[in-house]
Amino acid sequence: MISSTRSAPPSINVRMIDDQHAVLIEKIERLEQAMAVGDDAAALSQLIRDLDDYARYHLPMEERIMKSCAYPLRDMHALEHEKCLRRLLEVERMVTEGHPAAAVEMLSRLRAWLDSHLLEWDAKLGKFLNSRGVA
Ligand SMILES: [Fe+2]
Ligand SMILES: [Fe+2]
Repeated sequence: MISSTRSAPPSINVRMIDDQHAVLIEKIERLEQAMAVGDDAAALSQLIRDLDDYARYHLPMEERIMKSCAYPLRDMHALEHEKCLRRLLEVERMVTEGHPAAAVEMLSRLRAWLDSHLLEWDAKLGKFLNSRGVA
């Protein structure tokens, strides 16, 4: 039996971004569960593509918001986003090369990246947007 999903992501008090974070976490958890039950590489690759598509939608969206409001930390924040896409590529490589244990390890690193990114970088951005009247 697979353990239940973790709690909802921390809110950064900006509705649209919070909603996207919930989708991102859901897609990561779907992949975690598929790996845990030993789904085959084709099925995992499909879930990875789906997660990658969503990350490539969410991260640039945040970057556009940061640019449009001249957020002072936007370059550093965008560099952090690149780490997410790199980690996801590593997960994909481990799956396609047939290293399931390493893929699980890479995915847990990606999950750790996301958890800390939300608490640190996105929370900071949320505070800034709130101060500009965006919620
Ligand atoms: Fe985000
Ligand atoms: Fe972010």
